[in-house]
Amino acid sequence: MENAADFIWMNGEMVPWEDAKVHVLTHGLHYGTGVFEGVRAYETARGTAIFRHQDHIDRLFASAKLYYMPIPFSREEIRAATHDTISRNGLASCYIRPIVFRGYGTMGLFPLEVRVDVAISVWKWGAYLGDASKTDGIRAKVSSWRRIGPDALIPHAKASGQYLNSILAKIESHKAGYEEAILLDHVGNVCEGSGENIFIVRDGTIHTPPQTASILDGVSRRSLIQIARDLGYTVLERDIARAELYLADEVFVCGTAAELVPVREIDDHAIGEDGRPGEITLVLQRAYDDALHGRSERYAEWLDVVPARAPA
Ligand SMILES: Cc1ncc(COP(=O)(O)O)c(C=O)c1O
Repeated sequence: MENAADFIWMNGEMVPWEDAKVHVLTHGLHYGTGVFEGVRAYETARGTAIFRHQDHIDRLFASAKLYYMPIPFSREEIRAATHDTISRNGLASCYIRPIVFRGYGTMGLFPLEVRVDVAISVWKWGAYLGDASKTDGIRAKVSSWRRIGPDALIPHAKASGQYLNSILAKIESHKAGYEEAILLDHVGNVCEGSGENIFIVRDGTIHTPPQTASILDGVSRRSLIQIARDLGYTVLERDIARAELYLADEVFVCGTAAELVPVREIDDHAIGEDGRPGEITLVLQRAYDDALHGRSERYAEWLDVVPARAPA
């Protein structure tokens, strides 16, 4: 893999990257019985710092609970293991992927007696939607695939199997020549991108789909709602009709991997005046970048600084 690091933490042990393997009959591989997180650590003046680490760990435990999966480590153990994995790999900034999955030993759909394994990987990962995405914005397409509904799966969980839905949307948008898919929810309102939450701006007010629109409760989304309100903007969490995407003055998506990315075109409609990133989008992007990189005093408590490694 490009950007492979040296070690992966697996069930309490630090394992060389190339030896971090599972059996081909791993339950999660067959049935998607895993839950995971996507987290980022940034190089800051206080050292390497993990953005909203506790919130990501809490969501990992929430996803596991929703799938009746007991995590055989405490929140504090996962946190410390993540710190160790980053320092052991000597990374100043990285993407962090903890995964909890049903392991090897028993097949069949009844999972409750199958062992639960945990791994934490870290690696260098650049802008998820491409280097130019943050400055130039992206072109998106409303997908023909609806986001998983709450009566079939659990939008609030970040579970491995659920991502087949995002993957279908991603493939469709890619084949059609777009950089990202926007999924509607089960009733046809705007939901989110294949791996990001979505916001629109109309007449100076910021709108984003609510928790009941089958969204993943994104950490970036929560952060941006707070930042926007702190800056004095009105943010409404409400159902958004598809046409409002095309009529919006500004649209942006946000997620841990992508960060804040303006959307310049949706279904071949230019967004706003000329498809260039809008004014409010740019203000929020700057404030969010400052928070991520530890340049903001106000959001300093969102950063979990990785303790410096004691000399060997
Ligand atoms: C489907 C989906 N929605 C939204 C998000 C954004 O969530 P977060 O900001 O917590 O990364 C992600 C990324 O994790 C995602 O996969």
